[in-house]
Amino acid sequence: MQNRPIKNICCIGAGYVGGPSMAVIAKHCPEIEVNVVDTNIERINLWNSKNMQKLPIYEPDLDKVLEICRGNNLFFSANIKESIAKADMIFISVNTPTKTKGMGAGYASDLKWIEASARQIGEFSKGHTIVVEKSTLPVRTAETIRSILKSHATLKIPKDTEKKEKTFSILSNPEFLAEGSAINDLENPDRVLIGGSDNESIQKLSNIYKRWINPDKVIETNLWSSELSKLVANAFLAQRISSINSISALCEATGASISEVAKAVGSDKRIGRKFLNAGPGFGGSCFKKDILNLVYLSKFYGLYEVANYWEQIININEWQQKRICELIIKKLYGTISGKKLAIFGFSFKANTNDTRESPSIIISKSLLEEGAILNIYDPRVKDQQIYTAIGSKEVNIFNSAIDAVKEVDAIIVLTEWEEFLLLDWELIFKLMRKPSWVFDSRLCLDKIKLLNIGFNMWTVGSDTEYNF
Ligand code: UDX
Ligand code: UDX
Repeated sequence: MQNRPIKNICCIGAGYVGGPSMAVIAKHCPEIEVNVVDTNIERINLWNSKNMQKLPIYEPDLDKVLEICRGNNLFFSANIKESIAKADMIFISVNTPTKTKGMGAGYASDLKWIEASARQIGEFSKGHTIVVEKSTLPVRTAETIRSILKSHATLKIPKDTEKKEKTFSILSNPEFLAEGSAINDLENPDRVLIGGSDNESIQKLSNIYKRWINPDKVIETNLWSSELSKLVANAFLAQRISSINSISALCEATGASISEVAKAVGSDKRIGRKFLNAGPGFGGSCFKKDILNLVYLSKFYGLYEVANYWEQIININEWQQKRICELIIKKLYGTISGKKLAIFGFSFKANTNDTRESPSIIISKSLLEEGAILNIYDPRVKDQQIYTAIGSKEVNIFNSAIDAVKEVDAIIVLTEWEEFLLLDWELIFKLMRKPSWVFDSRLCLDKIKLLNIGFNMWTVGSDTEYNF
């Protein structure tokens, strides 16, 4: 039974990870049926929309992959039971938010959805099933999954199938895709990591990826190394951002320029140029959560110095957002009460509609608390998402950047959407109240051009104050 090739895949969780990952697998393995299931029926309906603009997530080129395989060998549904029952391999891609209460609150991941998925697999699966952890998880989560599945393997043997025996193998196969470039990251990954102890299952998963990925890029490890590697990879990336952001403050204080420093430092091949863009701090569903997990894990094992070291990455991230708010207030004569400000960009980075942990949330909330009136514009984020993230409807949301700037004192650029660079800045200048400020926290605008138009500008990591 175990030697059968993989014919049917199920993925639990039709989110930012599950959707694109399964679409790319389905594209490259047309003979495998891939069923992506989710408890959220509304989300499933959106995945099945004929109009690709209505997909629940925005990801460049995702529509092209779906054109090829949706309805052929890729299906989105809420048929969890049936999809699990016929699957040879099941990916778990559910969300694992940080716990808000109880043991480990604020640090540990809440694994209730993982547990729920494991229970569903235990109950509905038939025959031998390879269970693959796709969600980022604290180290040793596979143990939890294994323990739940084991109880089902011994207790419930389905009678209505020729696949009498119920057995499981557990693999860890963390996803390294970044939102906004997910399809490219899945098509051309730096590496694919597969952790496990059952070589046959590892080979089956590995063979799927080798259909389009160079075998040298497939790394096989044990389960715990795989789970830990994912946390550490994200922690290292986040660490670079906090490092460069800490230096951005030093640049502002001393007269150096962060882009020049980043270029000079990044030109050393050992350091590299990527992930050295200063900004309003990192957001997204993973970085903060994964570092908090690392901190929790370190404390659990009594490694307090290690925990403190990694926690500092988050402290700098939060401080960067706080200091940006403070300097906006300072530049606007010490008060923003009753002043209109435009926020450009609400997603946590460009080319995604995801707002999880977006710096725009904290910064907008802080500005609101100071009494500002906020006009928010983002090319992809829906109004309701913004209201929910901020926890209030007391903000004005606009469908275009130009509409959002009338009579505002300042524009605060928090996401590096390309369209911001291409806007008619002369017109914007005319529409704003004077003096007109632009705070470019992403270094994504043409500073010289804007200064020439007459704007006052602050850009992250540069000391110069112009046009007073
Ligand atoms: C990511 C990553 O998978 C994970 O590593 C990270 O820890 C958190 O977020 P993502 O795809 O971005 O997941 O999450 P999300 O877009 O929230 O999708 C998860 C989906 O799982 C949701 O659509 C949710 O409805 C679904 N879900 C959750 C189930 O189908 N069943 C459950 O029991 C719980
Ligand atoms: C990240 C990891 O890159 C990916 O491998 C993992 O699977 C999930 O988490 P993602 O969160 O989608 O991906 O986006 P990423 O491009 O890593 O950006 C994260 C945050 O860091 C964003 O808010 C981004 O704006 C910020 N960032 C990134 C910077 O501020 N400066 C940089 O130089 C790079």
